[in-house]
Amino acid sequence: MSGLFVTLEGPEGAGKSTNREYLAERLRERGIEVQLTREPGGTPLAERIRDLLLTPSDEPMAVDTELLLMFAARAQHIAQVIRPALARGAVVLCDRFTDATYAYQGGGRGLPEARIAELERFVQGDLRPDLTLVFDLPVEVGLSRAAARGRLDRFEQEGREFFEAVRQTYLRRASAEPQRYHVLDAAQSLAQVQADLDSLLPMLLERLHG
Ligand code: TMP
Repeated sequence: MSGLFVTLEGPEGAGKSTNREYLAERLRERGIEVQLTREPGGTPLAERIRDLLLTPSDEPMAVDTELLLMFAARAQHIAQVIRPALARGAVVLCDRFTDATYAYQGGGRGLPEARIAELERFVQGDLRPDLTLVFDLPVEVGLSRAAARGRLDRFEQEGREFFEAVRQTYLRRASAEPQRYHVLDAAQSLAQVQADLDSLLPMLLERLHG
């Protein structure tokens, strides 16, 4: 039996966590096992790596260090949580995955895509999300929502240009592979976004059972 690997992507402030809970409820009420998780993190060890990545520090973090820490956390998360959950037949709802590496370390930091692709093959083998929901939002809206939440982490302290590159990378990847990605307009009301999620449910269930 194999489950379904669904990832949620988008900028900070796009409502990924709220909508992930909503989707989890819709699946659980149908008797489906749901594994909620996130990156970087998802296991105690990977959450410690997350702290290293997100906490601002006086020592600047080299971009390659950042990239390798993302994949170190991911290797742990895949081994401990994602693969076992998929083997049980669960739907894994993961807040961010490797698309975020392409968007933030590739688009935002300017690292070559080929280097990320190499690590992706090394760490994941053939594991790729079955479905990726991109919660798209204009940069200014995302930044002001994140600022309203309080202290900014190491990524949230980046500027407008960085987040514009992040957004464009997500949209470019989504349009290159429309069978895997679904772009949702996260600037709409929460009720409208959730109605959009409801309309994706039949396709999701079909992929799980098909
Ligand atoms: P969040 O989970 O609160 O959104 O914070 C995670 C931050 O880490 C977010 O700013 C995006 C960033 N990130 C990367 O830069 N690369 C990655 O591969 C992942 C998973 C997250």
